[in-house]
Amino acid sequence: MIKPRFISFEGGEGSGKSTQIKLLAKRLAKYGDVITTREPGGTIEAEIIRNLLVKGKKNKWSGVVETLLLYAARKDHIDKIIDPSLKKNKWVLCDRFKESTLVYQGHAKNVDINLIKKLDKIITNNLTPGLTFILDIDPIIGLKRSKRKSNTETRYENMSLGFHNKIRKAFRTIAKSNKKKFVLINANQDINLIQDIIWNEVLKRINAK
Ligand code: TMP
Repeated sequence: MIKPRFISFEGGEGSGKSTQIKLLAKRLAKYGDVITTREPGGTIEAEIIRNLLVKGKKNKWSGVVETLLLYAARKDHIDKIIDPSLKKNKWVLCDRFKESTLVYQGHAKNVDINLIKKLDKIITNNLTPGLTFILDIDPIIGLKRSKRKSNTETRYENMSLGFHNKIRKAFRTIAKSNKKKFVLINANQDINLIQDIIWNEVLKRINAK
């Protein structure tokens, strides 16, 4: 189920998603109500699951266990926030969504992609954003940026550079698979320049309706 008012942002660590979401939310406000949210998380209960995932020892869980936790959090988030907001015709801007699971758990932690796709169908009925921005950055630069913040959510950041290079490669491959839905953006450039690229893509779709 593709939802045009649902826009997700994807990318590696330190790619600047949250900054871009804030800027887009301001610009979109004249086109209707906007909510900004994130995964894993977005509800009090899903944030509890987030804490389990993003903190602690790197190897505490297998990719499959992480996938199940992520889909538990996602289901709660969809039921309480995403679906009700879309039904009220609000714009939903989400920091990460299902492509993160395909990339982090599927491509980087070797979870069977078919398992993730099956779970996605069963749990979310294939709920899909109409537009996904993929912010692309060299992990050496991105990790430096995210480690600069007073960040305690370091479980994935602490994974190897090889892991983060796999993430980047997988996001770039996904971006190429559907150029209408995915917009790949070089995240190593001026924040306002990136925002202009994002805004132009959103406007194009608003005007096409
Ligand atoms: P953030 O750093 O963008 O806030 O995201 C938190 C971490 O969660 C990030 O390192 C990637 C990870 N993650 C997954 O591994 N799989 C997922 O499906 C999602 C949504 C996030």
